[in-house]
Amino acid sequence: MTIPRRKFDAVIVGAGGAGMRASLQLAEAGLKVAVLSKVFPTRSHTVAAQGGIGAALGNMGEDSWLWHMYDTIKGSDYLGDQNAIEFMCRAAPQAVYELEHFGMPFDRNDDGTIYQRPFGGHSQNFGERSVQRSCCAADRTGHAMLHTLYQRNVRANTLFFVEWMALDLIRDASGQVLGVSAMEMETGEVWLFHARATLFATGGAGRIYSASTNAFINTGDGLGMAARAGIPLEDMEFWQFHPTGVAGAGVLITEGVRGEGGYLLNKDGERFMERYAPNMKDLASRDVVSRAMATEIKEGRGAGKDADYILLKLDHLGIDVIEKRLPGIREIARKFANVDPVKEPIPVVPTCHYQMGGIPTNYHGEVVVPSGGDPSQPVPGFYAAGECGCASVHGANRLGTNSLTDLLVFGKESGDTMIRFLRENPGHKDLPADVGDVSLARLARLETQTGGESVFEVGAEMRRTMQGHCGVFRFPDMLESGVDKIKRTAERVRRTGIADKSKTFNTARIEALELDNLIEVAVATLVSAEARKESRGAHDRADFHQRDDVNWLKHSLWYREGNRLEYKPVNLQPMTVESFEPKVRSY
Ligand code: FUM
Repeated sequence: MTIPRRKFDAVIVGAGGAGMRASLQLAEAGLKVAVLSKVFPTRSHTVAAQGGIGAALGNMGEDSWLWHMYDTIKGSDYLGDQNAIEFMCRAAPQAVYELEHFGMPFDRNDDGTIYQRPFGGHSQNFGERSVQRSCCAADRTGHAMLHTLYQRNVRANTLFFVEWMALDLIRDASGQVLGVSAMEMETGEVWLFHARATLFATGGAGRIYSASTNAFINTGDGLGMAARAGIPLEDMEFWQFHPTGVAGAGVLITEGVRGEGGYLLNKDGERFMERYAPNMKDLASRDVVSRAMATEIKEGRGAGKDADYILLKLDHLGIDVIEKRLPGIREIARKFANVDPVKEPIPVVPTCHYQMGGIPTNYHGEVVVPSGGDPSQPVPGFYAAGECGCASVHGANRLGTNSLTDLLVFGKESGDTMIRFLRENPGHKDLPADVGDVSLARLARLETQTGGESVFEVGAEMRRTMQGHCGVFRFPDMLESGVDKIKRTAERVRRTGIADKSKTFNTARIEALELDNLIEVAVATLVSAEARKESRGAHDRADFHQRDDVNWLKHSLWYREGNRLEYKPVNLQPMTVESFEPKVRSY
């Protein structure tokens, strides 16, 4: 069967902040760039980012990119690559000013400068005291950012393919990436997007867990496609649980609430973070706060009739501050928790929020794999940015606001790197003869498996396993049995089909294809977590309580083929400053 094909200079999968920042660079350079998105661009998951963008502008007091760098390295529990972190923190202020000049409606101080709020783990003078570093647009920063970037892209003639789902990566025999196969969601028609450079900006895969702040579209599509094409996934054991998801609903309540002066209470009305992080208290790093909350609940000090949540108090901020700085939070609390935070605390629990790992890249956005003795050899024509990529700036735990910093800085840098590659490599290489066969075989499987496994049931089983076996606290027996369970679930995923086609819209097909991607992420997570015999950042093991820099200061790389793990060193050498040596991490 011949599949229709179209040629572009570059194809970008994903229209969130990273994808649209990269496409803007390419389109403004006069290149023909296609952006594929499962949803309308301004509905990409970046829209849900609330609290702000981390950048040391120093508008609210002294700040420096070096302090931001130190906080990010400490936050990462020293697993972050220090060259990439220096690159990001140095570039962050410029990234924010560019956005400001594109028209982003930031909140303002009286003197007209951008307002910045405090956020967890951000400090002045290497941990001395909290700093106001988060550049925000009330509690709707991601929303404002997506609209700004979309409008700018329209002006630059970026070609958007809305409601298209990428299916598989196209690689030739040499390993070079030549685009993707993709399906139009409305019609089910498959096309080949033949490109000289391909960027994945597909976001995270938080939907592997049952309780998640992530949108339903966050199904790890880029990670699944990369894994199927033989690319390893890096540091997948590290998942961030955001301290404040609405209990029972999972919807995010921004850390900006605590930045503006809100705090957490247990059922006794105790401000318990003072015991766990005497210096930074409620603004300690997220892994620390989430563990403290989970401990309070485990030890019977949770609130509510089942003692299973924590209270987030902000009524003392007063209605004016809440309406000015946190209007979206008031709306979310009313709709999803049935409380008005002007009067009552919000019930919250740690909720899966962000994957620190992803497709391995260097800080130019090039996807890198071990090859010929080099642990980080670029894959020609292939790039990744944003949550699906792992540069690695977040290491074992990301600081709040650094997700938006990451996607702006590395979105732009990937675009620039692609432009250089396109100028040096003119002309499209031929597509392989069997191009598209893998995608067609996957679609055919769904059609022919009448009476196969149900996508809904297998997906629910995967989410239960991840939630129960690989959460905030990790136990050796649960990790071991979790690996067995998730491998069995992966077998079931391969037998999923679309039960009754006469009653099926293409959404059933999409959900099945998404599960193919999610399961790769789930297996990678459990296998990598079971293997890492230490506690670091968000990976907390009951049997190995301490961080172990002698044996485990290294990145894991999970390969789908053979479910194999390899490791590569952490880059402890920044670009221009002295290395921050690992030390005890306290807040
Ligand atoms: O809490 C928040 O507003 C989330 C921000 C982030 O994940 O960086």
